Amino acid sequence: MAAVSHRVFSGVQPTGNLHLGNYLGAITRFVALQETHECIYCVVDLHAITTWQEPAELTKNIREVTAAFIASGIDPDKHIVFNQSQVVEHAELAWMFNCVARMGWLNRMTQFKEKAGKHRENASVGLFAYPALMAADILAYRATHVPVGEDQKQHLELTRDIAQKFNVDFAASIASHGYDETFFPLPEPLITGPATRVMSLRDGAKKMSKSDPSDLSRINLTDDADTIAKKIRKAKTDPEPLPSETEGLADRPEADNLVGIFSALNDQTAAQTLSHYGGGQFSEFKADLANLAVEKLSPIAGEMSRLLADPAHIDTILCDGADRARAITSPILRQVRDVIGLIQRS
Ligand code: AMP
Ligand code: TRP
Repeated sequence: MAAVSHRVFSGVQPTGNLHLGNYLGAITRFVALQETHECIYCVVDLHAITTWQEPAELTKNIREVTAAFIASGIDPDKHIVFNQSQVVEHAELAWMFNCVARMGWLNRMTQFKEKAGKHRENASVGLFAYPALMAADILAYRATHVPVGEDQKQHLELTRDIAQKFNVDFAASIASHGYDETFFPLPEPLITGPATRVMSLRDGAKKMSKSDPSDLSRINLTDDADTIAKKIRKAKTDPEPLPSETEGLADRPEADNLVGIFSALNDQTAAQTLSHYGGGQFSEFKADLANLAVEKLSPIAGEMSRLLADPAHIDTILCDGADRARAITSPILRQVRDVIGLIQRS
């Protein structure tokens, strides 16, 4: 079995309100990896429906994430861009992984606890099983590297646990079929850059999130220049001037967050940002940050709206990507069925 030595896979949920955290924590990383890796970027619509999605909104949001990928610089010709539900192997392998993962493992997932909140009994079974589907997304391609924001670290650890348990449980069958003993690779998370956890503009203790009821808490990729400037002006800060050294950000979550955003957008370290702004007031820093954010995000918003004006073209890109994705997953799933002992058409 000739395994590809490096294959990148990642996904973004089409749940609306794509924001600066998604952009800096994930999408800019996706763009950078295209130079050196074979990349597969997926709009994970089956993950989105683990919580209620209005059907027409879901369709719109699938196209919007696709447009954001392309507008940010992902090349759907050189790499693969598609929506998860069109490649049925994701759901099939997820079922098999539901039978490998243990209840106890999934019970520990903090994202489930946060999303289910106090109404656990009322959460969908899909929301609980969500990490097994994520493991299937990655392992259906035998992907080796997974760029994500900090919040996905625990899910990546679970993916590795599932891969490992599958390899061990089925070791004899894997060997008897002549497959490599590391049937599934243990994928590495790539959690890199100065903005792996972008925080809310209203509360430095909460991450920037699509579902925050306050729109002022996040900068959406579709915000216009005035809205971006207003949100940054209103962003929470503290009364002290900016520190000159990164150590001075330690107990100042809001300052730390804004400096992190500035540094990521300007492609520099926090130390470089502070060497310029240290000792200064937030008002001047915020004005520069607003200009920088508008300069970087406006072209993306413009390109997104241009792409979204032609939904049929976006759908063609997704169908083409799905065909190419299926060409990878289909032979891998044949092997998985063999290893498990299922009968299939030869
Ligand atoms: P989601 O919107 O949950 O599908 O997230 C898509 C990607 O964006 C994942 O890799 C997340 O880890 C990343 N992400 C989401 N929110 C943030 C945030 N506030 N800061 C950094 N990365 C984030
Ligand atoms: N769970 C991820 C999130 O909410 C999205 C996701 C689904 C994903 N499948 C994936 C990310 C596979 C990386 C790899 O952000």
